[in-house]
Amino acid sequence: MRLLFRAALAFTIGWQLANCSKAKASGASLFKDNCSGCHGESGAGDGPAAPYMGVKPRNLVKDPFIQGDSVAAISSTISGGLGAYMPAFGSKLTDPEIDSLAKYVRGLREK
Ligand code: HEC
Repeated sequence: MRLLFRAALAFTIGWQLANCSKAKASGASLFKDNCSGCHGESGAGDGPAAPYMGVKPRNLVKDPFIQGDSVAAISSTISGGLGAYMPAFGSKLTDPEIDSLAKYVRGLREK
């Protein structure tokens, strides 16, 4: 019985760890696929499309965010877009994808 309990515990912890690192990896790869063209690989606002845009993509590391930079605020920006140049991703990405992206962007911030 005890052994079974330990096996179950080990399995649960292992599963959570695996999921956690997966969420991180997918935040980074989702960013690369969907955001880096404008915001740049490192989020500094210097993607290949940036020079051609009427409103410059935000430097996600340093610039202040109009809509706030909590994970919840960033999620809502990603799903609804902002102004004329930041596209809405609400119909393109799933809620869990938007959530891992928001956490990834939050992690890029200097403070
Ligand atoms: C087509 C270019 C483009 C793409 C792709 C893009 N953005 Fe943006 N983003 C912008 C621009 C331009 C702004 C500034 C908009 C403004 O101020 O009107 C912006 C602003 C932002 C902001 C700041 C919001 C605020 O409150 O000030 C965040 C956060 C952000 N983008 C995250 C993302 C994420 C995450 C992705 C990928 C899912 C992404 N963006 C994809 C162009 C882009």
